[in-house]
Amino acid sequence: MIGEVFVADTIEHSGSRRDFLYYATAGTGAVVTAGAVWPLVDQMNPSADVKALSSIRVDIDGMEPGTQLTVKWLGKPVFIRRRTEEEIAEARAVALSDLPDQSARNNNIEGLDASDENRSLDEAGEWLVMMGVCTHLGCVPLGDGAGEFHGWFCPCHGSHYDTSGRIRKGPAPENLPVPVAQFVDDSTIKLG
Ligand code: FES
Repeated sequence: MIGEVFVADTIEHSGSRRDFLYYATAGTGAVVTAGAVWPLVDQMNPSADVKALSSIRVDIDGMEPGTQLTVKWLGKPVFIRRRTEEEIAEARAVALSDLPDQSARNNNIEGLDASDENRSLDEAGEWLVMMGVCTHLGCVPLGDGAGEFHGWFCPCHGSHYDTSGRIRKGPAPENLPVPVAQFVDDSTIKLG
């Protein structure tokens, strides 16, 4: 199917401190360590082949709670996490007044506040899909409960994100953005 790729076998398991990116480029794989600065040129001037992949489908079958998948979409990493009950509860217990960025930054539903309910893909909050690019200067944050708020941590300049991907401490000004995404069926998420 033109413009769509299926991604499999790229599940990262909770507890691993390795936070590699497994790119889902057509037919080839590349590995980049977390913390690398994402090339700005990639964000500003996507090539023709990148534009062709404006919509991708990601196979999430077999992902267990507490695991994360990282795929490449439109030249950038996207984090897909199946959260544990504890992660959901922690995210939903946070008072809005404690959040430096009050916006949900969710491209599926513009203009809502940063409540966790406004950022997760499903009502129960099990699935969180976010761009994996730090909103400070574009590094790729570490995941699997990293940082002081048990979500993601950007080691470049010390930005801490919570289990909803919201900025809580450090120089990053905004929450990790939620891209256009939806479930196609029980085991497939479509980006774009
Ligand atoms: S790029 Fe993430 S804290 Fe600076």
